[in-house]
Amino acid sequence: MREEGLDSNAPGLTGDDDEANSGPAPSGYGQIPDEPVDVDVTAVDPSLADPEHVAEVVAPQREIRTAEGAPLMRMEHVTMKFGGLVALDDVSFDIKRGEILGLIGPNGAGKTTCFNTMTGVYRPTEGQVVFDGRVLGKLKRNEITRAGIARTFQNIRLFNEMTALENVAVGTDARHKTSVPGALFRTTRHRDEERDAIDRGMALLEFVGIGERATEKAKNLPYGDQRRLEIARALATEPKLLCLDEPAAGFNPAEKSALMDLIRKIRDDGYTVLLIEHDMRLVMGVTDRIVVLEFGRMIAEGLPDEIRDNEQVIAAYLGVPDDESA
Ligand SMILES: Nc1ncnc2c1ncn2[C@@H]1O[C@H](COP(=O)(O)OP(=O)(O)O)[C@@H](O)[C@H]1O
Ligand SMILES: [Mg+2]
Repeated sequence: MREEGLDSNAPGLTGDDDEANSGPAPSGYGQIPDEPVDVDVTAVDPSLADPEHVAEVVAPQREIRTAEGAPLMRMEHVTMKFGGLVALDDVSFDIKRGEILGLIGPNGAGKTTCFNTMTGVYRPTEGQVVFDGRVLGKLKRNEITRAGIARTFQNIRLFNEMTALENVAVGTDARHKTSVPGALFRTTRHRDEERDAIDRGMALLEFVGIGERATEKAKNLPYGDQRRLEIARALATEPKLLCLDEPAAGFNPAEKSALMDLIRKIRDDGYTVLLIEHDMRLVMGVTDRIVVLEFGRMIAEGLPDEIRDNEQVIAAYLGVPDDESA
């Protein structure tokens, strides 16, 4: 599987990966501790096993739905060059609130690069990305997280030595306001936030279907559960936009279909989802709208049925064997 460009220099478990252009800053998730967070799982409220209750905890801001259809993110004439290579060539499209937008295209088409311009890893060579009315270009990674964009990675990145619950709790931390001195002196506020992080973390693990794995180390989870855990951690930052980079990679058909159910559930809960996937059939089943990239150019945009019948799209995918597109 392809590595994501500059990510090969990533600091690994010390935090967020893609700080390619901002030096050794702590992380894109806000205050991610280097040491595992100390959590007391026995304190978790058993009512969190109730899906209705969990949904309430996980998505308290359901008014997001009322604005469904208005653009949440706009790619405006975005060009991204790496030396002589044009990875994105004048790409413009909107992501509307409340939709699942599929971003598809053969390997090397520019999908991950597109994500990276949206999440502050790269600043576009030309054009701009506007999120919720703000131009992203000037924001730092953690500011982008706070603005409401979260993502998962084509190659899973978890804090391997931390438990599943701790992995999600650090995502929750990205929303918290306690200063480092506050955390050191264990203020009441910090304790409340920690408590809240555990409750919400547990609720999210239930939501993605791996609640019973809460106390297992991330590295010991089966691959599919690691993918779910990454989604839970992204959701913990309470994003308006959740970006999933090939979340079904390496899944068998049953696992893929279960994952698509989860993605629908996430959208139904009020989130907007951008789904990168290069298996066309998979995308057809779950997305509301699809944007197609080929060699960095946007070659089509439309409803799944329109994309399925689009000659240019079919041509772009010819010669890509099915098992290559998993
Ligand atoms: N950091 C980078 N430096 C140089 N080239 C890159 C970098 N990131 C991506 N590319 C190149 O940009 C093109 C698009 O890559 P990518 O966005 O990963 O495609 P996809 O995700 O659709 O498979 C590829 O040719 C890739 O090699
Ligand atoms: Mg990619």
